[in-house]
Amino acid sequence: MHHSLLTNIILLLSLFHTAVIAAPKTYAAVLAVRQTSAPTDTQCLDYARTANLSTIGANSTYRSAFLQASRVGTIINGRMLDAAILKLPALTGNEALNQACGNLTTVAFTEAERNFTMGIVAQFSGLVGNPQTIKAGPELVPIMGLIVFIFGGVWSFMP
Ligand SMILES: *[C@@H]1O[C@H](CO)[C@@H](O)[C@H](O)[C@H]1NC(C)=O
Ligand SMILES: *[C@@H]1O[C@H](CO)[C@@H](O)[C@H](O)[C@H]1NC(C)=O
Ligand SMILES: *[C@@H]1O[C@H](CO)[C@@H](O)[C@H](O)[C@H]1NC(C)=O
Ligand SMILES: *[C@@H]1O[C@H](CO)[C@@H](O)[C@H](O)[C@H]1NC(C)=O
Repeated sequence: MHHSLLTNIILLLSLFHTAVIAAPKTYAAVLAVRQTSAPTDTQCLDYARTANLSTIGANSTYRSAFLQASRVGTIINGRMLDAAILKLPALTGNEALNQACGNLTTVAFTEAERNFTMGIVAQFSGLVGNPQTIKAGPELVPIMGLIVFIFGGVWSFMP
């Protein structure tokens, strides 16, 4: 009992720690997209990845299937998906980027749907079955709240 409480606190603190370290990276990426007029392949790849992850993260069906299939921890994945959700709107709204890469937001949306009908979510296949049996994880709610809080804080204080 005592031990598990301590473990949880340490976990939470380490989450805070990594989230704070991760935040400036997102900030730098957004800044880079804004400042560069001619998008590069790397930016298209980043846009594709962000759009794909955001689409998966924003749909509870895809999200739970993804979290279930992945061997990486739910917290880490949840954080990754939430970061993509927060990052995507700036990329979707970037005219130059969408012209150079195509509207990858639309592509991700239609492809995620098409993939899912084939039992594929992101890189995981063979997920056909009953997604209802997958644990949806209400424990994600406070984690999401924390992430929105941290990232929101960083963005609010952006000059
Ligand atoms: C994103 O999804 C599209 C459509 O399925 C796919 O072609 C592309 O390779 C994916 N990109 C990344 C980086 O996962
Ligand atoms: C890309 O498509 C989305 C809808 O899927 C739309 O909201 C967005 O405005 C489009 N972006 C551009 C730059 O046209
Ligand atoms: C999530 O994806 C499923 C399967 O494609 C779809 O039926 C459902 O409407 C989507 N949910 C949302 C909130 O977009
Ligand atoms: C669709 O599935 C392919 C693998 O079959 C994957 O590379 C791609 O990222 C998936 N697209 C999305 C939007 O999940």
